[in-house]
Amino acid sequence: MEKIDEYLDRITAKVLSECARNEGSIPYIPENGRYTDMGQEDIAWWTNGFFGGVLWQLYHYTGKEELKAHAEQIETKLDQALEEFIDLHHDVGFMWLHTAVANYRKTGNEQSKVRGLKAAAVLASRFNSNGQFIRAWNEDKTGWIIIDSMMNIPLLHWATTELDDPRFKQLAIAHADTVQQYLIRKDGSSAHIGSFNPENGEFIEWIGGQGYSSDSAWSRGQGWAIYGFVLSYKHTGDIDYLNTAIRVANYFLASSSQTAYVPAIDFKAPVIEEDTDTSAAMIAACGLIELSQTLPKEQGKVYKKGAVRMLTAVLEAYTDFSTETDGLVRGGAVDYHSKEGKNVGLVYADYFLIEALLKLKEAEMDLW
Ligand code: GLY
Repeated sequence: MEKIDEYLDRITAKVLSECARNEGSIPYIPENGRYTDMGQEDIAWWTNGFFGGVLWQLYHYTGKEELKAHAEQIETKLDQALEEFIDLHHDVGFMWLHTAVANYRKTGNEQSKVRGLKAAAVLASRFNSNGQFIRAWNEDKTGWIIIDSMMNIPLLHWATTELDDPRFKQLAIAHADTVQQYLIRKDGSSAHIGSFNPENGEFIEWIGGQGYSSDSAWSRGQGWAIYGFVLSYKHTGDIDYLNTAIRVANYFLASSSQTAYVPAIDFKAPVIEEDTDTSAAMIAACGLIELSQTLPKEQGKVYKKGAVRMLTAVLEAYTDFSTETDGLVRGGAVDYHSKEGKNVGLVYADYFLIEALLKLKEAEMDLW
């Protein structure tokens, strides 16, 4: 892909301007070109680690100390969520892999390691042994699993390595097997939510989530599945996970090729939805690049090509590089059915764009 260095330079300048404008705050969706502070609004919100990820990736790439300082501020702020505890959920992987664990990986900070281990203990504690899954979300969703969880379980693999204790990875493997069995369909698409009886662990039904319906294919969920299963393969060497990632990747590429590689919010909505979800493209791009780097060169080529097509489509028409406004990637969608949260910037789309560009240079920090 051309101009990667130029893009990364422009992105770094933009992120530095965002740090200066938003001292110590935690971005999510820019409104009228400005981030609000999710640290004030909801400290346990699932996306609160992604700007940390942006900062650690760019610090790893540029060495600019301002980036590290802002990342450390966010990490410290998140202590409130760990202490309050009650609102924590299965997305603790997203929150702490990109903040405390990233810091520990980069600097060896022992306090950061402890934060990461506390988050891993929270995730492990959500395991349902009769159903062999890690429960999603809170409240009455006691028996739910969701495809997004595949990106959180790397926290358990990290804890196993760190503590030299296989219990954490045993839970990650059991959960991935359950997700693979119940959420991945024969055509390579993925359901968003599966519901189980939390007492005896029996499967009940699929439930529509952020996509169109229970039997549709929410594009961001397909992205989580591609990247999540490649990562499970990377952590375990289980070839079934790699084959699952390939099947979902083929499905994703065939579906997104219908809309010039800018994915619709759901690939199985009855009418081709005009609204886009660029975050799905950025997450899938990272998964596809990882897949291409995992497979033999000839077999992997098609996935790298697909990733570059999506990155190019988004970079050419859905990005804002201005250093005067917050938020880089436009055209994201929170949820198929919500009226708001369409055609917006999403902090995780920015994160995965940066990770994808660095991955193409093989210069990324491994946060998974
Ligand atoms: N993990 C929720 C989402 O992808 O929107």
